[in-house]
Amino acid sequence: MTPELLELFEFLRFPSVSTDSSHAGDVRACAAWLVTKLSSMGLQTELHETARHPIVVARNEHRANRKTVLIYGHYDVQPVDPLALWHSAPFEPEIREGKIWCRGATDNKGQMFAHVLGVEKTLREHGDLPVNLIFLFEGEEEIGSPNLTPFLQAHREELRCDVIAVSDTGMVAAGVPTMGYGLRGIACAEVILRGPKGDLHSGIYGGAVANPATAMARLVASLHDDAGNIQVEGFYDDVRPLQDWEREMWKNIPGVSDADYLAVTGSPAVFGEDGYSSAERVWARPTAEVNGIGGGYQGEGSKTVLPAQAFAKFSFRLVPDQEPKDILEKVRLHFEKHCPAGVSIEIEIGHDGKPYHADPHSDFGKAAQRALTSAFGREPVLIREGGSIPIIQAFREILGADTLLLGLALPDCQIHAPNENFPVANFEAGILLNQHLLRELAKG
Ligand code: BES
Ligand code: ZN
Repeated sequence: MTPELLELFEFLRFPSVSTDSSHAGDVRACAAWLVTKLSSMGLQTELHETARHPIVVARNEHRANRKTVLIYGHYDVQPVDPLALWHSAPFEPEIREGKIWCRGATDNKGQMFAHVLGVEKTLREHGDLPVNLIFLFEGEEEIGSPNLTPFLQAHREELRCDVIAVSDTGMVAAGVPTMGYGLRGIACAEVILRGPKGDLHSGIYGGAVANPATAMARLVASLHDDAGNIQVEGFYDDVRPLQDWEREMWKNIPGVSDADYLAVTGSPAVFGEDGYSSAERVWARPTAEVNGIGGGYQGEGSKTVLPAQAFAKFSFRLVPDQEPKDILEKVRLHFEKHCPAGVSIEIEIGHDGKPYHADPHSDFGKAAQRALTSAFGREPVLIREGGSIPIIQAFREILGADTLLLGLALPDCQIHAPNENFPVANFEAGILLNQHLLRELAKG
């Protein structure tokens, strides 16, 4: 195994699950490991405490006549459950079939470490970087970056930069370099419907009082019409229509046909808004999703119970120019209006993040495309992403800089799921990409 892979494995072994407070010590240990690594590269490195998980910032010596590039990544990861479905221990990285199997291998440690090693190689080969560099690594991306926005506000002068680069998104297919110029936003909410004061015998009381699980099914169903259009009043008001040039461009992108979506998801059919391709539905249209739903008996066999309550967790993916706070208010009104009779409703508003959209043909955008072409030996495709990285729009609003999304994840890397994996080839291409990127961004 190469020294680069051995080092990545050290980074991957930390179970830095940000959402789970029992892993807070592991998140911290992972941050401390990063500080040691970045310091050893001769970068001036600081660990900043926050209300929860630390932020790590590292920089070279900045000079007045160079471009300043901020590279962002996150060292926290998603939980591993369901554990039983993993083919190897989630935090014991292994290489099989040319892929690194580990939670965080792709999202985001492998991609983030490719940035670090690209910088390290450039420093080794040239003794210096062609740009002023700021590394900004957080441990809270997977929980909505609650402490990073205040950190940006408090440190906006030290973090001022000309452009930002992030590898935390996808490639449309293996070997197809992909530059993202958009991300969907997100808005989360949870609903609890309550009926009787406790679970009831469904024979003795069923028919006399409302069933909260039935009520929840009706409430969930009220979000869409039969064609899949979202029924929340005013939901589409601020949706920016797709541009003709994007639709034309996306027609020729490999890896995103309906057949591709069927193959990678295993679903029996594609489904979505009329008049749009699958890629358009994911990259440029908003959605309303149920992420979890429950209430009543979940065990084996049947149990004749009328549950006391039911819950559902929702997230809405948003596109320019939808505002998460505005959407959450509209959603709240919708839930209140459509709450079935006989139950009481509690709506808990969760975290949110704005959508992002940039011009892929800016000077920095073109520089990034040249770097992608050099690293992968072919011209990149330009896409928007269905996923969200809430801090990216905050970077623009607070630091005034746009972000280049240089994704290295493949559609089957299984991020957030059991058996997350990252091809060794993508890791190596990522290191090379970062070497080219620094050089190209220096030209502007
Ligand atoms: N790396 C992902 C986002 C991503 C993945 C964007 C693939 C585009 C393509 C990131 O770590 C993530 O999972 N983000 C969350 C954000 C949420 C927790 C606020 C998401 O999109 O669900
Ligand atoms: Zn993630």
